[in-house]
Amino acid sequence: MKTFSVYAAALALLCSSCGESGHELSVKSPDGKIEVKLATDSLLTYSVAVDGLELISPSRLGFDAEGLTPAADAKLSVTHSDFDETWTQPWGENKEIRNHYKEMAVTLTDSVLAFTVRVRAFDDGVAFRYEWEASGRDSVTVMDELTEFRFAQAATSWSIPADFDSYEKEYRELPIDSVATANTPFTFMTDSSKIYGSVHEAALYDFPEMTLALDSASQRTLRAALAPMPDGVKAVAPAKFATPWRTIQIGRQAVDLINSGMILNLNEPCKIADVSWIKPQKYVGIWWGMHLGTQTWTMGPRHGATTENAIKYIDFAAANNLQGVLFEGWNEGWENWGGNQHFDYLKAYADFDMDSIAAYAKSKNIELWAHNETGGNIPEYEAALESAFAYYHSLGIHTVKTGYAGGFKGGYYHHSQYGVRHYQKVVETAAKYQIMLDAHEPIKETGIRRTWPNMMTREGARGMEWNAWSAGNTADYLCVLPFARLLSGPMDYTPGIFDILYRRAKADKGRIQWNGDNSECCIKTTLARQIANWVIIYSPLQMAADQIENYEGQPGFQFFRDFNADCDWSMALQGEIGKYIVIARRAGDRYFVGAGTNAEGRTLSLPLSFLEKGVTYTAAIYADDVKSSNPERLSISSCEVTATDTLTIDMLPTGGQAITFIPKK
Ligand code: NOJ
Ligand code: CA
Repeated sequence: MKTFSVYAAALALLCSSCGESGHELSVKSPDGKIEVKLATDSLLTYSVAVDGLELISPSRLGFDAEGLTPAADAKLSVTHSDFDETWTQPWGENKEIRNHYKEMAVTLTDSVLAFTVRVRAFDDGVAFRYEWEASGRDSVTVMDELTEFRFAQAATSWSIPADFDSYEKEYRELPIDSVATANTPFTFMTDSSKIYGSVHEAALYDFPEMTLALDSASQRTLRAALAPMPDGVKAVAPAKFATPWRTIQIGRQAVDLINSGMILNLNEPCKIADVSWIKPQKYVGIWWGMHLGTQTWTMGPRHGATTENAIKYIDFAAANNLQGVLFEGWNEGWENWGGNQHFDYLKAYADFDMDSIAAYAKSKNIELWAHNETGGNIPEYEAALESAFAYYHSLGIHTVKTGYAGGFKGGYYHHSQYGVRHYQKVVETAAKYQIMLDAHEPIKETGIRRTWPNMMTREGARGMEWNAWSAGNTADYLCVLPFARLLSGPMDYTPGIFDILYRRAKADKGRIQWNGDNSECCIKTTLARQIANWVIIYSPLQMAADQIENYEGQPGFQFFRDFNADCDWSMALQGEIGKYIVIARRAGDRYFVGAGTNAEGRTLSLPLSFLEKGVTYTAAIYADDVKSSNPERLSISSCEVTATDTLTIDMLPTGGQAITFIPKK
């Protein structure tokens, strides 16, 4: 197999004719502070400098792929362009986003191949992708990607280990050289210059996911490691193709990474003509009881998804200003979960009367969700997809939660090209039937929600469920999440458990603990932090994940009644990776703030300058009860504030604070 070095040599030969000085081609961000250089000395490489200091030293580009090697006499052409546009999206952390970059495209053309490296430099990071057109062949077989990330400076990183089947992993804080493998977003901070960054990818279509692997032969070097197919091939790509973008978000403060729109900007505009049916919503569901072991997915005496329970949940949603309800375990097949993984996507269990439940939900103006656990049985799910989505559409269902808890058949990895194709097929089929998606055990988010805004949210990290049946998610984990996984896009973490010590479940003597003994399990944060997570962990479909009984009579639930998942504007105000985070969002004329800390108690000062000037707001504050230090207790207060005021946020260890700001009429 020929490798890219042959092509790089050709580029070096031809570079003197390209009009750029020497063998170096360069593009700078609009503000001139970030520079990407392509060099062609012996291998084709790129490097990145920030404020004149090298961040990524010359790092290899290219592929091990037959057919992607230009001839020695290939012609080199270089184009430069600028782009500046502000676009709007139907929903998102920010409805308006500025896309401002400078671009350089370097192309080598011979009689059969045109091969391009396209580079974009933004004020908040850099990205590059490969494009090719190989005539006379049907496809290109990619054996490997040779892209490297050689860190010029010592840096601390936060990441999960690479695993081509799962993102449900603990974060590790490691120096770059101690990272054996990692998935992206791979977040880092340089030790002395304090530059923050995150390596990820954008617009992942028809290609395997990119993870990172340490090149032990060179210092601080990570190289792309693509998820393979069962035969070891990484991808069979079309003869004319553009790869996903390889991205490095860059900021001077940790929160700059969160406030960047670069990943979305690297995706194509919306492909759905009518988006009027795509609507953010708050929802509840028959879900947590199964994870705690007090209810079952299967039909039986403890079946959660019964007609009676469905009506209760619909009534609760209608009475509490929520828009949606989810029922897991409504359809036949759960007996097979973990076994032969066979589900029926059309047939409800006998004690779940779908028609009358759908009619009741409609009469209450509540959106019914469908749940499709596949157990990883892709052939069966793909065969059922059209008929299932057509059925849900006929019932007025606009939202489907999917799940892939189980290995794929045929030895395919979840995150391989096969998996990426499958997840995309579901997105496009759903769009056809006006269905929004919430994918669990998904492929990572790479900003495709810009192009396919029915791809609302996904799991793709350890969510709430881990607290039910494992050691659970620490407050430190929750302080890394916004700076790593959440940089890629929305997460259905399923936040907001109010019975943090599981008092109700533990009192239920008939409880059958699912997934082993979980008698010691509990939520590892204060109650106030559970409320704050509704703001911190952005999802356009935002769940109140507890059983509805646990919200009855709880004054803290007023926060979620007032909350609006359809936000217009967001800003991460303060934070350090793994330590704390403060985020403000606006929806209509209301503002919401969520703050959270790690295992350390913390006091922060919060200037309210993000509020609209000249407007007086009633601030409702849901704080930790610092006097009692009791994690189950809330301290709720209210006051009148304007943009010139400053509030003090006091948080217990593992604590948080949530605030609503409602304009005074
Ligand atoms: C794992 C999902 O993350 C969880 O939300 C769901 O309840 C189970 N799979 C069953 O589908
Ligand atoms: Ca999961």
